[in-house]
Amino acid sequence: MATHEGTWAYRDAHDDFARTFFRRFGDGVASSIGVGTYLGDPTDERDDAYHDAIRTALESGVNVVDTAINYRHQRSERVVGRALAEADIDRSAAVVATKGGFVPFDGERPDDPGAFVGREYVDTGLVDREDLVGGQHCIAPAFIDDQLDRSLDNLGLDTIDCYYVHNPETQLAQKDREQVYDQLEATFERLERRAAAGDIEHYGVATWDAFRVPADHDSYLSLPEVVERARAAGESAGNTATHFRAVQLPFNVFMADAFTVEAHEGPDGSQSALWFAHEAGLDVFTSASMMQGRLATEMPDGVEAKLSGETRTQRAINFARSAPGVTCSLVGTGSVEHARENVDAGRYEPLGADAFDAVFE
Ligand SMILES: NC(=O)c1ccc[n+]([C@@H]2O[C@H](COP(=O)([O-])OP(=O)(O)OC[C@H]3O[C@@H](n4cnc5c(N)ncnc54)[C@H](OP(=O)(O)O)[C@@H]3O)[C@@H](O)[C@H]2O)c1
Repeated sequence: MATHEGTWAYRDAHDDFARTFFRRFGDGVASSIGVGTYLGDPTDERDDAYHDAIRTALESGVNVVDTAINYRHQRSERVVGRALAEADIDRSAAVVATKGGFVPFDGERPDDPGAFVGREYVDTGLVDREDLVGGQHCIAPAFIDDQLDRSLDNLGLDTIDCYYVHNPETQLAQKDREQVYDQLEATFERLERRAAAGDIEHYGVATWDAFRVPADHDSYLSLPEVVERARAAGESAGNTATHFRAVQLPFNVFMADAFTVEAHEGPDGSQSALWFAHEAGLDVFTSASMMQGRLATEMPDGVEAKLSGETRTQRAINFARSAPGVTCSLVGTGSVEHARENVDAGRYEPLGADAFDAVFE
């Protein structure tokens, strides 16, 4: 797993980045740019391209890799495992995150996805039909337990540094909010036990809508309530403190709601997700930091002029990682060329807090 010594030694070996490129994560440090592995076809060619991109990033200053068991039908997790094993970097230097919640296929999309899920997960008792939303999403404790084992295997790791429950708001299509919080708490308790056993170091929730929409939105989940459920889960599991540490949410120039929408009740009233997370001591990892590629070609002039970076992509990445409370901005990176450009974004200064605020005035 990532350790204090391993990540700090990595930072010292990569000391040619700009101020605040490495940021605290747990008792170690994480680069504020990370590699994501969501997009792309489930092909061997794309696997190889990801392998080379991840390896390049890991060997040149980025020590955060994010994946999920369902990405590219488990191919992304497996290629992350391969890249980690082959890269010239100590395991203790890398922060590896993955997620469970969407029922994964195995290498390719089956001809009959419904039959596959029924045969592999429902008939075997791993998923209760009642917990399966949209035929593909489940966050029940036994399922997540199973998925975590598979992820450890795919990644070839003894410990996952951060394990996310993936898009819990998907459950709101069939369950009410209280039921979702209850199920999260039960699953968090399971994850607390897996943390105590050394299978994960931290856990969190990765979301798409939940934390950036207003409180009256159908997909809304309250971050304070989720944090409270994690505290309770830690107590029930007999741990001295909760291992809930991170949230993942989309954040980029076009999707800045996590900074602008104040929907989470803090001690002094409603707060944005970023503000609440910061005050609660949580780490925020931004997804879709490039708006899934769109920002490579398009950005509002007024914002772009304020950002540092040689290329538009670098400026876009530097916007996301300038937001207050963000530990790391994840960028889907599927080629060596993109890996080099994206890592180099970290050689430019992020915006200071006042300059970031000014973007929104
Ligand atoms: N709900 C969730 O939990 C959730 C949702 C979405 C994403 N995520 C995580 O966040 C990560 C980042 O989000 P994302 O991958 O969806 O979107 P993204 O990072 O905003 O954009 C990725 C796209 O940008 C392209 N790109 C990257 N570097 C580039 C460069 N230097 N020049 C031009 N194009 C470039 C990539 O192409 P190439 O692939 O060809 O490099 C890819 O098409 C994901 O990979 C995933 O790990 C989580």
